[in-house]
Amino acid sequence: MSSEVRFITKNFGKYDPMSIDSYLSIGGFSALKRAVTMDGEDIASLVGRAKVKGRGGAAYDMGRKWSQARAVKGDHKLQICNADEGEPCTFKDREIIKNDPFNLIEGMIIGGYTVKAQDGYLYMREEYRHLRPLLQNAIRQAEERGFLGDNILGVEGFNYHIHLYSGAGAYVCGEGTALIRSSEGKAGRPRMKPPFIKVSGAFALPTCVNNVESFAIVPHLLLDDAGFYMSYGGGESVGTKLVSVGGNVRNPGVFEIPFGTTVREIIYGLAQGIPSGHALRLIQFGGASGKITDGRILDVPYTYDDLKKAGVTVGSGAILVIDARTSVLDFLRMNQAFFSHESCGQCTPCREGNLHQKLLLEKLARGEATSEDVAMMKKIGKIMSLSSLCGLGETAQSALLSAMEVFPDTFAVGGAK
Ligand SMILES: Cc1cc2nc3c(=O)[nH]c(=O)nc-3n(C[C@H](O)[C@H](O)[C@H](O)COP(=O)(O)O)c2cc1C
Ligand code: SF4
Repeated sequence: MSSEVRFITKNFGKYDPMSIDSYLSIGGFSALKRAVTMDGEDIASLVGRAKVKGRGGAAYDMGRKWSQARAVKGDHKLQICNADEGEPCTFKDREIIKNDPFNLIEGMIIGGYTVKAQDGYLYMREEYRHLRPLLQNAIRQAEERGFLGDNILGVEGFNYHIHLYSGAGAYVCGEGTALIRSSEGKAGRPRMKPPFIKVSGAFALPTCVNNVESFAIVPHLLLDDAGFYMSYGGGESVGTKLVSVGGNVRNPGVFEIPFGTTVREIIYGLAQGIPSGHALRLIQFGGASGKITDGRILDVPYTYDDLKKAGVTVGSGAILVIDARTSVLDFLRMNQAFFSHESCGQCTPCREGNLHQKLLLEKLARGEATSEDVAMMKKIGKIMSLSSLCGLGETAQSALLSAMEVFPDTFAVGGAK
């Protein structure tokens, strides 16, 4: 069975997260010291060569994002660290913040240097309020030691400040434009694009948004002379990934795996399988907005390509295991209730679609649904994914639509499993 690797998590437990001296004693800020001797474009291309894909869910090429952000003209540019982590069963960023806050801060500063941003906003979900003191302390101590502020490390004109923001607890605020509106003190509702965030983001300034794990990789990559990171995985899935495994498993938690570990090794090895001998019902990948499948995926390697071929995606890195005590239909009703609650209501396909899907699933559960109802569910799901204003509405039906493929019996009218 597979074991974990330690690359992104290599500092966990090695220093006192409240003490910059403790961080410095394990080589903290060495990556930043190296970064300022490099050209920003070379840092972006290192991240690109390592094929790091954004870890917030969309898997956008991070090297390309930094290179594009760097090229955007502007006297004042911003960077945002997305620590909203509202996707159900996703809790990997919390572990980074809790165990290695200084590395996250260092990753942001290197990001600021690379894309030429002067201010970084760290937007953290309200439910992580207990972690605020850790980050406030890390930011203050980094300022006191000259790693944040003006002319950092004596580099003329390298000015970077970090501001900590808290959301008010809405899932949609993880979406880039909603996050930005929320950071500006407005209601956290997504907006149409263009203008794209990279040219007109927070306060109408060029803004580059990245996930916590995306930032956290960078200091380690800069110091990885041995090329450990790139020795893991292969193809488009190079390196390691944090996955958060939850649901009906004996050992739920966050694990750092090399890409290519099989799903079986993750669920039955690291997470120690399903308790009390219950059978596996379904697995959802990437959070509530992810697709579901059954045990046929167990021997598939966890890579971007292999999961896609198997009909699911990496998404946020969440893996939710549901055993046979919960029916597929009950699971879908629970998932749908989440989206009906979290839709911001701004656009019709998502607002009305989520409500109708909820009612239709309830009808199916009562045994009253007709074949027309099932056909309507499929139609609404597709319309929502094609016409919603933001990613929330676009992906809200992933679980339902994939369930229709994988668990057709659930939708056999007249009896719902
Ligand atoms: C509804 C919704 C919620 C999201 N929530 C998060 C989140 O909590 N954290 C996150 O990093 N990205 C989230 N994203 C993705 C972000 O919009 C964005 O792609 C990401 O922060 C970019 O960083 P990355 O390229 O490093 O992944 C969400 C997207 C949508 C549509
Ligand atoms: S898709 Fe849903 S969450 Fe997104 S803007 Fe429309 S109503 Fe709001």
